Amino acid sequence: MRALGIHYRLGCPRKSMPGLTVLVVGGGGREHALCLGLADSPSIGSIHSAPGNAGTSMVGVNHTVSTSDIEELISLAAELDADLVVVGPEVPLVNGLADSLRTAGIACFGPHAEGAMLEGSKLHAKRVMQELGIPTGGCLVVEEAGAIEAALDSFKPPWVVKRDVLAAGKGVTVTADRQEAHDALTAGLSSDGFVLLEEHLSGEEASVLVVMDESGYVCLPPSQDHKRVGEGDTGPNTGGMGAYAPAPVVTPAVLQRVVDEIVEPMHHHLRNKDIPYRGCLYVGLMIDSQGAPGVIEFNVRFGDPETQVTIPLISSDLAELLLACAEGRVSDTKVEFYSHSAATVVLASEGYPASSATGRIISGSEVEIEEGEIRGFVHYAGTNFDSEGNLISSGGRVLSATGTAPEISGAVSAAYEVIGGIELEGSHYRSDIAYRAL
Ligand code: AMP
Ligand code: GLY
Repeated sequence: MRALGIHYRLGCPRKSMPGLTVLVVGGGGREHALCLGLADSPSIGSIHSAPGNAGTSMVGVNHTVSTSDIEELISLAAELDADLVVVGPEVPLVNGLADSLRTAGIACFGPHAEGAMLEGSKLHAKRVMQELGIPTGGCLVVEEAGAIEAALDSFKPPWVVKRDVLAAGKGVTVTADRQEAHDALTAGLSSDGFVLLEEHLSGEEASVLVVMDESGYVCLPPSQDHKRVGEGDTGPNTGGMGAYAPAPVVTPAVLQRVVDEIVEPMHHHLRNKDIPYRGCLYVGLMIDSQGAPGVIEFNVRFGDPETQVTIPLISSDLAELLLACAEGRVSDTKVEFYSHSAATVVLASEGYPASSATGRIISGSEVEIEEGEIRGFVHYAGTNFDSEGNLISSGGRVLSATGTAPEISGAVSAAYEVIGGIELEGSHYRSDIAYRAL
């Protein structure tokens, strides 16, 4: 059985030379995409991941340290004499990893715990948006069962019920069925003590990842995720089943409104805090039929799988950008982009998102494409090697096949050609990624 290989734009498998030492925290497809972007950076010296996955082990060194072990992560960064730590997931940020790294004098891409509450608490984020006049849906906090019916009466269906907990995109119920909304409110109340009922925004979703510090910000190419597990956006929500960028729904005029009405006020708010926000502000948007943007959510990190289609479009030095942000120098950094499009299709384990069958061998023959300006390759996520060196699945989202090309259609075809060559028993993927752009 041949393990799937990976080569990226420059075909750079592993580097260890003078230059920056970077530790990437996390082990998903997003972190593999970050490692590949770092490997492509002229300023990079060596790349380390904690804990990483099969893909990150092909571009750097994996360390078996969990993303929840803040003390061990600090020791590892100190031991490596890391110039920069890039934090992928939100949980360690909410738990104060960035604060501890900065106390230890280590540069960190990712906000402090207080900044991370923009994702850690949807109620906090909503209050910040309301205070700043940022466009977003109205919201009610339901604190007792007796208030449920009146709350449901105050919004039109469909209803949006949100638990105020970190739930990897799965703590939200959107339904036009009043009984289902009632049940979701009751369940949230009994587990968390309160639950949010939010005004439903209609339109098309998009994500804008903004690299931000107190000196300035850079908006990366807008992307669109596919959150539902099934074709045509049906079935339960997942962490994301595929994405593409740039998303045509975010026209230059829409992007200007996003900047003026959302990013600018957020930047002004965050730059004036005692401790500056340094990291990615993920703006989750609904764009209505008039092109007006409304915020659905903020995240305090790069999106997954949005990162897999955004990083490959950056043509300038990614390591330099992330370090500049960690040091509060974004406004002095030149960031450039390819004019290409990218698409990624997630391969999920049997049972995902309800459950995930893991430990199965992944095999494949043709997993890289390079034809003129069209490229196809794999971003690994929940993957590992077994004792015999076989590539095996170890999570719900196993990998994603990514294509880049001058046109979105070429990027989508390349991604599907790659995923068509991969075998994993019981796995599934959506066959309609980027349908809105095609
Ligand atoms: P969230 O975890 O807040 O991103 O919500 C998960 C998904 O629920 C989003 O990607 C949307 O598809 C949907 N959603 C959340 N809030 C709203 C809203 N106010 N209006 C419409 N759809 C929403
Ligand atoms: N793709 C959705 C997220 O990263 O939250």
